[in-house]
Amino acid sequence: MSSTLFRTKKVEQSILDTEEPEHALKKSLSALDLTVFGVGVIIGTGIFVLTGTVAKNNAGPAVALAFVAAGVACALAALCYAEFASTVPVAGSAYTFSYASLGELPAWIIGWDLVLEFALGTAVVAVGWSGYIQSLMDNAGWQMPAALGSREGATDFGFDILAAALVLVLTGILVLGMKLSARITSLVVAIKVTVVLVVIIAGAFLIKGENYDPFIPKERAVEAGKSLDAPLIQLMFGWAPSNFGVMGIFTAASVVFFAFIGFDVVATAAEETRNPQRDMPRGILGSLFICTALYVAVSIVVTGMQHYSRLSVDAPLADAFKATGHPWYAGFISFGAAVGLTTVCMILLLGQTRVFFAMSRDGLLPRFFSRVHPRFKTPHRPTILLGVVIAILAGFTPLTELAALVNIGTLFAFVVVAIGVLVLRRTRPDLHRAFRTPWVPVIPILSVCASLWLMINLPAETWVRFAIWMAAGFFVYFLYGRTHSRLRSEEPTKTGDQL
Ligand code: ALA
Repeated sequence: MSSTLFRTKKVEQSILDTEEPEHALKKSLSALDLTVFGVGVIIGTGIFVLTGTVAKNNAGPAVALAFVAAGVACALAALCYAEFASTVPVAGSAYTFSYASLGELPAWIIGWDLVLEFALGTAVVAVGWSGYIQSLMDNAGWQMPAALGSREGATDFGFDILAAALVLVLTGILVLGMKLSARITSLVVAIKVTVVLVVIIAGAFLIKGENYDPFIPKERAVEAGKSLDAPLIQLMFGWAPSNFGVMGIFTAASVVFFAFIGFDVVATAAEETRNPQRDMPRGILGSLFICTALYVAVSIVVTGMQHYSRLSVDAPLADAFKATGHPWYAGFISFGAAVGLTTVCMILLLGQTRVFFAMSRDGLLPRFFSRVHPRFKTPHRPTILLGVVIAILAGFTPLTELAALVNIGTLFAFVVVAIGVLVLRRTRPDLHRAFRTPWVPVIPILSVCASLWLMINLPAETWVRFAIWMAAGFFVYFLYGRTHSRLRSEEPTKTGDQL
């Protein structure tokens, strides 16, 4: 049995599968498309919303250092992702990569894990978008009825109708085809980057030096009795749970990590890229570098404009301008944020459907989902199914804590990808790698350590939820995937698949 759990799918087979006409996606993306695609999904709720929350609760002005720490962890992971994506250029991201290197069970685990990352990530961003739209509506004097507004902190029954509607509209766009969505993405990315640059440039003139004092606020104990809220590391070592100080920077890093999620999504579009071997690493590393620079600049400016203890947690960038007497900028930023979050949501949804598509093509999920639409050439079935499920989720679920769950899932995927690079180098040294991770094994090992470090800085409660989700995944695999796997039906002729 263990040999079936670790059966691997040949890299050559993965590439061949993508060429079967009824399962083929259109190859139309360039390196620039991928970078725009990356920036389009990376800049979102993380910088527009979480910056204020973590500055206020965990790190003070040192939130800029938290962005650096999370950025370093992502850069290490990106170097591993880029090698995988340029070696195995097929849809499905870390899922496909681990199927080729680690075997079926680890691949299933990672695919299941990515479903969590993308589905909840899409829901989180849709709810954040709805919040910004409602704040713009408030400016114009319109109010949503409470039952149809944002769910954050609500106690009564309600459904965030804007968040759900956004997901459904984006689902429709994705079904119609990649090209259309890439064009919309470029326009929206331009607006979003302009807004971020306006924050940095206009805000720089409003900085007051005294707001940086202290840059790293002194450690502060948090109230007892909320033990599962504390970062796992504090419980592991029996430390008194605290915020701020040096450890606060890492707690903040494990949260603002959400702001970087998305560069891995670029890898999921490998199969739709014209020259994946060359363009994929450029797209991934390029978009990550641009975003890290912007995040550090934005967080330094915003914590300089307003004392961290007074930053807003709903719309910190816009509110910092209001607080310094510039409401016009605030309106412009809210508008740009709302527009920008639209693409983030759409690309997360796209990544989600592509992983689902790849898993179904391999038979681990029903194959019904892997027939592409005869005219649009898009995997319309998983797109519609997941779009509806996520819309319901976004309608009913408050933002809080979901981001942490998304982070833990993503970091776990990073760990598997880094290990996968090491394994594939040993098992398939012959494969052509357009991009090779430098300093192997040092970079993959550092990547594993950095991701694990951020994971243990997440709340213990998040670990419990993650464990429950993964347990459910095992259940589904042993009940369905293991017996329906396409590799299983091909086994007698493909014993060489055990690498
Ligand atoms: N990185 C994306 C965001 O911050 C997911 O919204």
